[in-house]
Amino acid sequence: MAQADLHAAVLDWYGRVARDLPWRRTRDPYAILVSEVMLQQTQVARVVPRYEAWLDRWPDDASLAAAPTAEVLAAWVGLGYNSRAVRLQEACRVVARDGWPRTAAGLRALPGVGPYTAAAVASFAFGEQVAAVDTNVRRVAQRLGRGEPEALLPPGRAADWNQAMMELGATVCRARDAACDGCPVAKRCASAGRVQIAPRARGGTR
Ligand code: ADE
Repeated sequence: MAQADLHAAVLDWYGRVARDLPWRRTRDPYAILVSEVMLQQTQVARVVPRYEAWLDRWPDDASLAAAPTAEVLAAWVGLGYNSRAVRLQEACRVVARDGWPRTAAGLRALPGVGPYTAAAVASFAFGEQVAAVDTNVRRVAQRLGRGEPEALLPPGRAADWNQAMMELGATVCRARDAACDGCPVAKRCASAGRVQIAPRARGGTR
């Protein structure tokens, strides 16, 4: 099956079912970086109100750069490791002074920005054609049986593709309970209907 068909099926599906998340409505690298750092440790539903409050309080890199670190840490409570907030502020101090790197390679030089986050910001904010590969995206690509996620990228569509792969991993091709019935590419998938389903831990929330 041609890869173009796979691309079309995933992107069409994403266009129909995508959750309307606030960081998907912006191309502002600062807002996108804030969302991605928050999403590293906290579920989408809990991030949304925290993200909106954060942007109300510090709407751009310069305002976060200038804030007292103690206030930044206080605003981060409940979002995971404090070091993430400290490095987010450090990154904003760098970009407030030097401007935003517009490539994943350049973004990786910022404090706290790893390969996934760099690729997410580069593709969503600057349209760079790079795959943002986190554990969910890697799992989806592996199950599809089409090789490395980087090789799957549709020409010119990296931003939508990255969001679509995340959406597929989060809502359909989940780690423990793949919902192959609802998958737009089940017919093209090497693992459809054969994903091993481990029993959920009692009381588990994920
Ligand atoms: N998890 C990490 N990044 C995300 C994004 N951009 N949208 C939804 N979930 C995510």
